[in-house]
Amino acid sequence: MRRKVIEMKKRKSSARLLEFETGRVPIQVGHNHSDESPIRFIDLFCGIGGFHEAARSLGLTGVFACDIDEECRKAYHHNYGLMPYGDIREIEVDDIPDHDLLCAGFPCQPFSIIGDMAGFADSRGTLFFELERIIMAKKPRMIVLENVRQLVSHNGGKSLAKIMLSLRRMGYWADYRVLNALNFGLPHKRERVIIVAFRDNIDSFPWPIRSMPMKPLSALLEKSPGVKHFVSERIRLSRFARHTPKMTPSIWHENKAGNVSSHPFSCALRAGASYNYLLVNGERRLTPREMLRLQGFPDDFEIICNDSQTRKQAGNSVPVPMIRAILERVINAANCQIERKRA
Ligand SMILES: C[S@@+](CC[C@H](N)C(=O)[O-])C[C@H]1O[C@@H](n2cnc3c(N)ncnc32)[C@H](O)[C@@H]1O
Repeated sequence: MRRKVIEMKKRKSSARLLEFETGRVPIQVGHNHSDESPIRFIDLFCGIGGFHEAARSLGLTGVFACDIDEECRKAYHHNYGLMPYGDIREIEVDDIPDHDLLCAGFPCQPFSIIGDMAGFADSRGTLFFELERIIMAKKPRMIVLENVRQLVSHNGGKSLAKIMLSLRRMGYWADYRVLNALNFGLPHKRERVIIVAFRDNIDSFPWPIRSMPMKPLSALLEKSPGVKHFVSERIRLSRFARHTPKMTPSIWHENKAGNVSSHPFSCALRAGASYNYLLVNGERRLTPREMLRLQGFPDDFEIICNDSQTRKQAGNSVPVPMIRAILERVINAANCQIERKRA
């Protein structure tokens, strides 16, 4: 059964600085950003709303979202007052309101080193063609897509080339870059390919490459994480037998070969991995709140799902400050173009 879009604006509205973006001034984008922002976005494969969190902080208005996962939909609705639709394959384009900006972090498992690298041979990879269907029908002015870094090299670069060609054939100016959340203030090494596309031609896109100072790990670790997050003595001793840390606090990472390293930041959170592969100081798992903070979600994002669901959701999400920096530039680039045309 189809769900209908409900807009309730539950949480505080626009232009709120994210907790992990301290020291930054509110950004003025576009012409007229008030609560009634004229810039409307949709959030496909929305998860728990990393795109929504970033877009809302810039004063944009979410008008549609979808995700097949019921728990994600509940968390999204609870926090953003917008009830996502379900499976994108069942959505009629007529159900999607007109919008200026299409955001989508389409499923990455088919392209990820954690997945089987099947790409477009995997039915989840073909979900890109659902995006194509929606873009063709709705022709939004701006598009921002996100996926794993491995998409760049997948199938010798052919998968990404296919996506870029598809966007260009639909009349879009498109470009991509691999960006790392570490450069956007988060103590989280998370590399993602970001694709931007514009319906109107632009000369070039000014990718945000400046580094924001990294929030120290100590600022986002919980003071009293609770005993349930500590690993067994056996696991703790096994880690300490293989590794001596050079700093505290640190996040210990165990790779597939069983080698352990530690850093003043977290390696990429993952949705499906054993939750022992990242350990704070070699002795406890990250709490769901810490994982959300590592993605840049502010603490007023309310956790309503259980620990295991929230860990999966945070592992699947996008780094909010990184997306915010991109959206800011995308909107400015599109507006500049409009201004130039008018002149
Ligand atoms: C990489 S995650 C995107 C996370 C999101 N950007 C966020 O910030 O939380 C991909 C999402 O696609 C959803 N998904 C997978 N297949 C889908 C489908 N057929 N229709 C709608 N959503 C789907 C998954 O449930 C998952 O939440």
